[in-house]
Amino acid sequence: KVIYVLNGPNLNLLGVRQPEVYGRETLADIQAMLEQSARESGFTIEFFQSNHEGAIVDKIHEAREKAAGIIINPAAYTHTSVAILDALNTFDAPVVEVHISNVHKRESFRHHSYVSLRADGVIAGLGTRGYLAALDYLTHQLS
Ligand code: DQA
Repeated sequence: KVIYVLNGPNLNLLGVRQPEVYGRETLADIQAMLEQSARESGFTIEFFQSNHEGAIVDKIHEAREKAAGIIINPAAYTHTSVAILDALNTFDAPVVEVHISNVHKRESFRHHSYVSLRADGVIAGLGTRGYLAALDYLTHQLS
């Protein structure tokens, strides 16, 4: 089974972008950590990042046919994108929303998430370990 891990804008700069907020680990580090953990539980990861809203929508459409679950950090689109919410509402398997930082501790515009209207669970503030927690939940649900 394949789990899609989708990352939104600016997350390609993880590790150099505001390390005091997001830490020093890179997206490649997260990918490697998830691939290893998935392998151990017999799953495959499809890892994707885009700075473009429509590209993320397209990837969610692809997931409709191919994914047993989605982990998504929509980054800034969390707070703005009805299009990503609508796309996720066409996806029938579990969805976990992840934020590296604790968005609730930050500016009020980060407190609202469109994606949370669809997500089965939301993880925020656990740093990059949040992705692992999401994967652990999904592999358990899907096994
Ligand atoms: C983020 C939080 C968002 O508010 C922000 O726009 C991001 C990253 C996080 O992982 O903490 O780009 O999703």
